[in-house]
Amino acid sequence: MGVNEVQGVISRAKGAPVELTSILVPDPGEGEALVRVQACGVCHTDLHYREGAINDEFPFLLGHEAAGVVEKVGDGVTNVQPGDFVILAWRAPCGNCRSCRRGRPWYCFASRNAAQPMTLPDGTALSPALGIGAFCELTLVDALQAVKVDQEASAAAAGLIGCGVMAGLGAAMNTGGVSRGDSVAVIGCGGVGNAAVAGARLAGAHTIIAVDIDERKLEWAKEFGATHTVNSTDTDPVEAIRALTDGNGVNVAIEAVGNPVTYEQAFYARDHAGTVVLVGVPDPSMKIELPLIEVFGRGGSLKSSWYGDCLPSRDFPMLIDLYQQGRLDLDAFVTERIGIGGVEEAFERMERGEVLRSVVMM
Ligand SMILES: NC(=O)c1ccc[n+]([C@@H]2O[C@H](COP(=O)([O-])OP(=O)(O)OC[C@H]3O[C@@H](n4cnc5c(N)ncnc54)[C@H](O)[C@@H]3O)[C@@H](O)[C@H]2O)c1
Ligand SMILES: [Zn+2]
Ligand SMILES: [Zn+2]
Repeated sequence: MGVNEVQGVISRAKGAPVELTSILVPDPGEGEALVRVQACGVCHTDLHYREGAINDEFPFLLGHEAAGVVEKVGDGVTNVQPGDFVILAWRAPCGNCRSCRRGRPWYCFASRNAAQPMTLPDGTALSPALGIGAFCELTLVDALQAVKVDQEASAAAAGLIGCGVMAGLGAAMNTGGVSRGDSVAVIGCGGVGNAAVAGARLAGAHTIIAVDIDERKLEWAKEFGATHTVNSTDTDPVEAIRALTDGNGVNVAIEAVGNPVTYEQAFYARDHAGTVVLVGVPDPSMKIELPLIEVFGRGGSLKSSWYGDCLPSRDFPMLIDLYQQGRLDLDAFVTERIGIGGVEEAFERMERGEVLRSVVMM
């Protein structure tokens, strides 16, 4: 079996700028697929990795929002073959864990990943972000992480389904259970939050309130279906949301920042018996304090959304269909296309709020 030397973007140490360097990607073993990456979006979770906010398992091979073409498959692979256009998923249910056996594969506790490591030339194993690692020309995944979709879709747009778009859409449609006639607020309208806005519209919500501290994000939110926008730098978002909902608050409040302040806003902005969905990823040091009587007295449910509670094999092809029918404007999430050397600068633009998604084109 061969080993492929390619260029990849790694995060070597907490807080240090990312580096473009040589990495070694083995040919696929049993059950694995080698994928030639065509496009990979820059998600805020990549920045969380490089800040050490996910775990300490440096060095990371970053990038996890990708589409590409299967190059080779290992023994026993039946779901894809060389030449297939695929979106990479960071959830590939094992079918065997206690959650899969209970018929809830979207919570799978033993999601599948490649067995062989990708390494630096000196043999140091890399931790691939979310079990993918796709800011590189070739990546090795479990074949079940590669979901075949229509090859007519643009790679830049399709790749976004692999994380941010699915997480946001699913937070509204699956976790939040948004349905016809609901009122929804989305706090934090980056790539994930604006996908939640789009998901709320697809699900038939009649009031969709977008909240952000950045006016550009709110302008984008209107294009994805927000009926109202609130800039929370100068307006109390809880009061504004109540004012827009007859004083009651929304049925579903979605937090897409990952911050105690915005979580609390979501908590108080929902109506009685409503649902709060946390899709933003908090830093492990963050804490919240809420009066227990408010948790009880408001009823409803407080939920977290991992990957929009999606099933990639079911949902990715469906979202590509919606895209091709003109019902889900994935291209509108792609603010810019960049080269593989541009990830660090893309993080800076993300922090300044200038982009919904920068997409690395290989
Ligand atoms: N749960 C999941 O499965 C999942 C998947 C992907 C990403 N995420 C997480 O979702 C979050 C958002 O990711 P993203 O890629 O959209 O990031 P992003 O940087 O593109 O968007 C974040 C948005 O939040 C806004 N914001 C920041 N502080 C705010 C505040 N105090 N009030 C209102 N808005 C505020 C920013 O202006 C920006 O528009 C991140 O924490 C990311 O790690 C979660
Ligand atoms: Zn499982
Ligand atoms: Zn992501």
